[in-house]
Amino acid sequence: MKKVLIIYDTQFGNTRKLALEIVKGIQENENITCKVENGDGIETEDLSKYDAVIFGGPTRAFRATRGAMDAIKRAGQIGLDGKVVTTFGTYMMGKQSRGVKGMDKKLSKSAPGAIQIRPGFSAKVDSVRGPISEEEIPRAHEFGRKLSQEILQHTSPTVEVPSA
Ligand SMILES: Cc1cc2nc3c(=O)[nH]c(=O)nc-3n(C[C@H](O)[C@H](O)[C@H](O)COP(=O)(O)O)c2cc1C
Repeated sequence: MKKVLIIYDTQFGNTRKLALEIVKGIQENENITCKVENGDGIETEDLSKYDAVIFGGPTRAFRATRGAMDAIKRAGQIGLDGKVVTTFGTYMMGKQSRGVKGMDKKLSKSAPGAIQIRPGFSAKVDSVRGPISEEEIPRAHEFGRKLSQEILQHTSPTVEVPSA
């Protein structure tokens, strides 16, 4: 069984909701289990248990939140080598989350030994307090489904079949 940790920051709850939608996509694969936790949870987690760690947060003032960036930095210090990592986030303006862009950059710096799936996933919200725009929900499931394939592909041991 593969294990995924999802760490999010949120003010109004939309990024948490997005995390849960991505989880639905990941868990269509029954060989993977997910744990969803708020950013501070990173301190009490034993990251060595996880095959993948994904980080989420909203965009605020054109950038990722401090909480999301701190969680990435801290996880990098604890150790993400060899794990599949990626990001996701909510935003309101433009075509893509600036926060996700910043988190992606931070993650590649903080975890050079990880297998990073880039770019992370951006979901638009209808207003500052949400909700997440309706059309983003199936996209979030699809992101989760694709991520589950990446996790199995990058973390499964290769079985070598001897030639006859
Ligand atoms: C103070 C503040 C600043 C914001 N700045 C931006 C911004 O620069 N760009 C953007 O797309 N959305 C911006 N937003 C909208 C947030 O992205 C949106 O409220 C957030 O994604 C909701 O996620 P949450 O419920 O997880 O907190 C801002 C919201 C607040 C409250």
